[in-house]
Amino acid sequence: MRKTDWWKTSTVYQIYPRSFCDSNGDGIGDLPGITSRLDYLQQLGVDVVWLSPVYQSPNDDNGYDISDYRAIMQEFGTLAEFDTMLAGMHERGIKLMMDLVVNHSSDEHVWFTEARSSRDNPYHDYYIWREPQADGSPPTNWEAAFNGSVWEFNEPTGEYYLHMFSKKQPDLNWENPKLREEVYALMRFWLDRGVDGFRMDVINMISKPWLADGSLPQAPVVRDGFLQPGFQLTCNGPRLLEFLREMRVQVLDHYDCITVGEAPMATIQQGRELTHPESGALNMLFQFEHMDLDSVGGHVNGKWALKPLHLPDLKATMMRWQDALEGQGWNSLYLSNHDQPRPVSRFGDDHHYRVQSAKMLCTFLHGFQGTPYVYQGEELAMTNVAFPRIDDYKDIETLNMYRVAVQERGQDSAAVLRSIWAKGRDNARTPMQWSSGPQAGFTTGTPWIQLNHNTALVNAEQAVSDPTSVFHYYRKMIALRKTEPLLVEGHTTLLLPEHPQLVAYLRTPPQGSSGDGAEALLVLCNFGATPCTFELHPAVSCERAELLLGNYAVEAAGLAQRLRSMPLRPYEGLLLRLR
Ligand code: NOJ
Repeated sequence: MRKTDWWKTSTVYQIYPRSFCDSNGDGIGDLPGITSRLDYLQQLGVDVVWLSPVYQSPNDDNGYDISDYRAIMQEFGTLAEFDTMLAGMHERGIKLMMDLVVNHSSDEHVWFTEARSSRDNPYHDYYIWREPQADGSPPTNWEAAFNGSVWEFNEPTGEYYLHMFSKKQPDLNWENPKLREEVYALMRFWLDRGVDGFRMDVINMISKPWLADGSLPQAPVVRDGFLQPGFQLTCNGPRLLEFLREMRVQVLDHYDCITVGEAPMATIQQGRELTHPESGALNMLFQFEHMDLDSVGGHVNGKWALKPLHLPDLKATMMRWQDALEGQGWNSLYLSNHDQPRPVSRFGDDHHYRVQSAKMLCTFLHGFQGTPYVYQGEELAMTNVAFPRIDDYKDIETLNMYRVAVQERGQDSAAVLRSIWAKGRDNARTPMQWSSGPQAGFTTGTPWIQLNHNTALVNAEQAVSDPTSVFHYYRKMIALRKTEPLLVEGHTTLLLPEHPQLVAYLRTPPQGSSGDGAEALLVLCNFGATPCTFELHPAVSCERAELLLGNYAVEAAGLAQRLRSMPLRPYEGLLLRLR
């Protein structure tokens, strides 16, 4: 099959279906709701939709716990409505990337209900089982991502099963070839239905180092109590590339599809290995290094231990991935998804400079080499929320973390709530703000989670009708990818790496390209609320600079003079063409 790299020039838009648009007034977003908003996505100009899981699920983790991989969650609609949505996307030239969650299933999946019934059930080996320790306690001291032990006791077999997330998300055993065949078959089911690819949930956890070599190490003890962070023990096992290569040969190579693997704790070496066009398996990864820079590394409280971002660290991290993957793989570019806080609140200023800083962050991100991802509402500069009561939150990670931190570890509840305001996943999951009307136009009923309080100011209706809005800035930036080959292929060179407030980088023709050697793109971003002075290397001349996109009006005096004589304004972002 002839394949092109269309996913390199694409921009992907992520939909979190529960919070996107509700068509039937039950307060929960659904597939017909998505279909009703496709014109909006077309206007924005995105090429691909990544749809978070819509499969049947008891919703312990909002669909990331799947009980039937071939059925649609009843709250979201039917397979027929799925087909209508997909056809509507394709009519508009938009492709659909499904979420593939196959490191674990739901404990309500028939594989697991069978597997847990007896040790000799044919499905038993689809999951990961270990004997209790002599005193009956769990086999290891590893803490799950959503707190508690990763091991849950199963009475009928007298064993523990592994769950890296909640106990309703048992990990699948990829060492079993039959399980792998099941996964490939369900992938074909959706690809044959017309979908265009997969985002693969925690895909680097499918090969567990200790499963491959039969060991069962205890995690290093770094805090009081039995449970210790043990995530690094379960990622990036030695068979990861082998499994994914098999998936490529069995499935992916037979379709012209897009793939992105979520890969916590991935290194640049893995990025290169897994996304290499010949010897790799996936088009790109979601790595996390830039998402971890505002947490205290190695802290027992993980991502909840906050620290301010040091801008040179962000630049260095972005550049390590730019340099490592150029010509040898491909980067995904993201600041936002359903697990992360809103970028304008996290890296910008959602109060005084909400609009400017959101546009600046768009410039910063989309200017790099890679495929950009826009998470629903990012294009409106939707902001974090600060619900006053823990009971207002819905996310299993947040609720479990709060319970353990406050009730079991005795931490200060106000401080824990503050870290939830900064990092909680529900920041990204409040309903999409379509209008300033009741329930922001998301539903005619009661939304499953509260709305942000700022719907009168921040909503799609306003943004679409205002040519200076963040929405239209994203639209223009997305369109530039189609007309500026350098934005896609250009080599990235970081300028002023140590500047504490400025991000500046060049995109120049890649070696061996036929492009005009004298031409370059320059990205300039002020990450602060104060004017930012800087001096570029004399070889970088802005004398004949042309403005491709910027978030402030350009004065009559002209761009070159402006850049010579004035600092960048608060959160100013510029994309320039140099000649
Ligand atoms: C990563 C997903 O993005 C997150 O939402 C989910 O909770 C975990 N994987 C478990 O599936």
